[in-house]
Amino acid sequence: MKVAFFSARKYEEKIFQEAQKDSEIEFDFLEARLTEKTAQLASGYQGICVFVNDVLNEAVLTELHKLGVRFIALRCAGFNNVHLPTARKLGLRVVRVPEYSPYAVAEHAVALLLTLNRKIHKAHYHVREMNFSLEGLVGFDLHGKTVGIIGTGKIGHVFAKIMNGFGCSILVRDIKTDPEIAAIAKYVTLDELLEKSDIISLHCPLNDATKHLINESAFAKMKSNAILINTGRGGLIDTQALIKALKAHRIGGACLDVYEEEEGVFFTDQSSEGITDDILARLTTFPNVIMTSHQAFLTQEALMNIADTTKKNFVCLIHGTRCENEVAHMS
Ligand code: NAI
Repeated sequence: MKVAFFSARKYEEKIFQEAQKDSEIEFDFLEARLTEKTAQLASGYQGICVFVNDVLNEAVLTELHKLGVRFIALRCAGFNNVHLPTARKLGLRVVRVPEYSPYAVAEHAVALLLTLNRKIHKAHYHVREMNFSLEGLVGFDLHGKTVGIIGTGKIGHVFAKIMNGFGCSILVRDIKTDPEIAAIAKYVTLDELLEKSDIISLHCPLNDATKHLINESAFAKMKSNAILINTGRGGLIDTQALIKALKAHRIGGACLDVYEEEEGVFFTDQSSEGITDDILARLTTFPNVIMTSHQAFLTQEALMNIADTTKKNFVCLIHGTRCENEVAHMS
């Protein structure tokens, strides 16, 4: 099956080329992000392979269907970018990679936290400039601090265990209970978590119930020195409310790997054009905000797992068999 591989990046091409060897899949790597403007590129393909910032709204899905596309393989776990009712209506089969490396994401959340807290990003540049002064570099011990984790699924579970290893007290919030986590953490209400945590990390999916979960009223409940970490999805935080809280020094800082308007910006080099999004531009000016552009997943192990699962998903689609990673189908 010929597959149009949207948003292709060099770091994944080699791994996917390896995966397609001796298989019935033939990936054509396209740098373009899938949008209403680029959907035409899928002409002649029965399958497409997409990532987090590809657009699969009603218009794009309808166009893809018209062009003959029947199979959509997401190279990610989240499927908030797919309009599932339309996919179902059109009989498009949509598959995903539910798990590739919870360690990659949880470890990146810890890396962001340690960097911001211990000001490693600043210290690195100071030393490169031959400034060996320690002024402005005071951090705090993680040991003994309270960490609040929202979402204790695969990634939140790993993050909780790492923070437990640091000697932190763990508060968690989820709509279901993980017995292994209950042994090292306390399940509490969202309000209690917001009020008592020194560090808050978001690991729940983005959906109608969680959109802007961290809004103005949530910021008002947080400790004034709380550090907020988001490696989940940008839309979990109301960014305007975050900026307001940072300006008013109502929280200690933010570690962000995702941003609600990241589509079309993250994963691209904008260094010659500059940032046109004023909210993103403002966020990058705070000394107590650290950002990466949705790279939490980016480890060798995760990329190999993504390629392997995607290949298995396509085998099911090609042979018309049930796929355990399916998120939308005809029934
Ligand atoms: P998961 O499905 O294993 O866990 C999500 C957890 O959130 C579940 O335990 C679920 O019960 C809980 N949850 C659902 N609604 C909730 C609510 N209203 N309040 C509290 N908890 C709620 O998912 P996983 O693999 O742990 O991934 C979590 C999220 O991380 C994904 O949805 C995705 O958005 C994001 N992600 C980000 C990546 C990155 O590179 N930055 C890479 C992979 C995932």
